[in-house]
Amino acid sequence: MRRERWPIDRGGKAGFPRWFPAIGPKMTMQGRTIALGVSGGIAAYKACEVASKLVQLGASVHVAMTRSATEFVTPLTFRTLTQNPVIVHMFAEPKHWSVEHIGLAERADLFIIAPATANIIGKLAAGVADDFITTTLLATAAPVLVVPAMHHRMYVHPIVQRNIVLLQEIGYRFMEPETGRLASGGYGKGRFPSPEKVVEQAVALIGYEHDLTGRTVVVSAGPTVEPLDPVRFLSNRSSGKMGYALAAAARDRGARVILVSGPVGLRPPLGVETVYIETAAELRRVMLARAPGCDAVVMAAAVADFAPKGRSEQKLKKQAIPAILELEENPDIIRELSQLQPRPVLVAFAAETSSVLQAARTKLETKGVDLVFANDVSQPGIGFGSDDNQVTMVSAAGAEEIPRMPKARLAHVIWDRVKSRWG
Ligand code: PMT
Repeated sequence: MRRERWPIDRGGKAGFPRWFPAIGPKMTMQGRTIALGVSGGIAAYKACEVASKLVQLGASVHVAMTRSATEFVTPLTFRTLTQNPVIVHMFAEPKHWSVEHIGLAERADLFIIAPATANIIGKLAAGVADDFITTTLLATAAPVLVVPAMHHRMYVHPIVQRNIVLLQEIGYRFMEPETGRLASGGYGKGRFPSPEKVVEQAVALIGYEHDLTGRTVVVSAGPTVEPLDPVRFLSNRSSGKMGYALAAAARDRGARVILVSGPVGLRPPLGVETVYIETAAELRRVMLARAPGCDAVVMAAAVADFAPKGRSEQKLKKQAIPAILELEENPDIIRELSQLQPRPVLVAFAAETSSVLQAARTKLETKGVDLVFANDVSQPGIGFGSDDNQVTMVSAAGAEEIPRMPKARLAHVIWDRVKSRWG
C-alpha cells in the first residue's frame, strides 16, 4: 500500500494566512500566550510586525520594552497592535489592566526577545535582573527565543559570542542574524531576520496542537554500549537524534515523555524526563520499569544484539584479549514489552542495509509490535547521525513509504501514526 506523500503546508492552509511560510500541518497559535521583550535597537520597528503577525495567528501577545527601545518605537504602537498594555517601567503605578501582567512569567508559552541587543544578551548571560524583561525571564520556565540584531562587529565579538553560547547551553534558542546592509551604514552579519521567519520559529516552538495531552509515552534513543573492560566496548553509530526528535515532538504535542537514552552528545530536551543507560541490560531494566501503564513505547535506540561475555573489571592487557571474542546475546527488549498487559502501542525501528522491507516485515511478526519504521542505513544522509531520515512504515495493513524529511518532522508523522492506533 502506498499512500500520498506527507502533506507539507505551503501557507494558506490549516487556518494560517497566505503570508505564513511552510511549517507543517496541525499547528495553531490560537490560545498561546507570548511575551515579547523588545530591547533598544533600530530593528525594534520590525518587532512591531512580529507582534502583529502573531496576533493575526491568534496568539495573545504581551509586550515589554526596555527604556531605550521606547526611543525607537512608542509603547502605543505595540499596545495598538496587540490590544494589550505594554510594560516599560518595572515599578509603574498599577493600572486596572496591569493585573493581566501579573504572572506573565508563569502564563507565557513562549518568550521572544526581539530585537536582542548585545546589552540584553550580556545581562541575561550574567543573570542580571534590573528591568521587567530580565526579571521576568529569570522567573519563567517557558522556552525562550532570542533574535539578535546589532552592528556586525558587535555580533562577532568574542564576549557576545560567549554569552550566546552560554545561553544556548541552558536551552535558549537563537536565530542567526542576516547578512546585509546595516542601519549603521556598514555591511555584515547583524540584520534582524524577516518578521515572517521569526514567527515561523515561534510556531515551530509552540504551535503544535496539544493532541497528545493526557498520554504518557516512553522513547528509547541512542546506542547501547557493551563493555569488554573499563576502557573498551562494543557499540554502534547511533547519535540519538531520531529518538530525541521523537521525545521533543511528543512533548510539544502535550504528552508526558520519558526518554531513555544511551550515551549521546545531545542536550536532554527541556520538559522531558530523561533517564540515562549504557548497556542493553540497563535499558531493559528501565524499560520494564517505566513502560507498564504508558500509552506507547517507541524503541528508536540501536540496541546491541550481543555483549562481550564476562566483562573484566580491570583493563585487560593486550596479550590477554583473545583474537576471537566470546559474545552473549542481549535480551530482545521490545519483544518482552509485547507481553505487557495492558499492552501499550509498540513501535520498533529496523536499521537495515539490505532486504529492508523483508527484514521489517519479519521484525513486525517476531517482535509482536504494531508498527515498524524501517530505515536503510546504508544510504547517505539518512539513518545514523544525520538530521534527515527516510523510512517505510510496516504494519499489519501493509507498507507506507514516507519520504525523506528532517527527523524533527518525521517524529510528528510517527506520532500521527501512533495516535491513529489509539483510536
Ligand atoms: O540515533 P540516530 O543517529 O538518529 O539514528 C537513528 C537510528 C538509525 C538508530 C534509528 O532510526 C533506528 O533505526 N533505530 C533502531 C536501530 C536498531 O537497533 O534496529 P534493529 O533492527 O537492530 O532492532 C529492531 C528493533 O528492536 C529496534 O526498535 C530496537 O530498538 C529493538 N531491539 C533490538 C535489539 C534488542 N536486543 N532489543 C530491542 O528491543
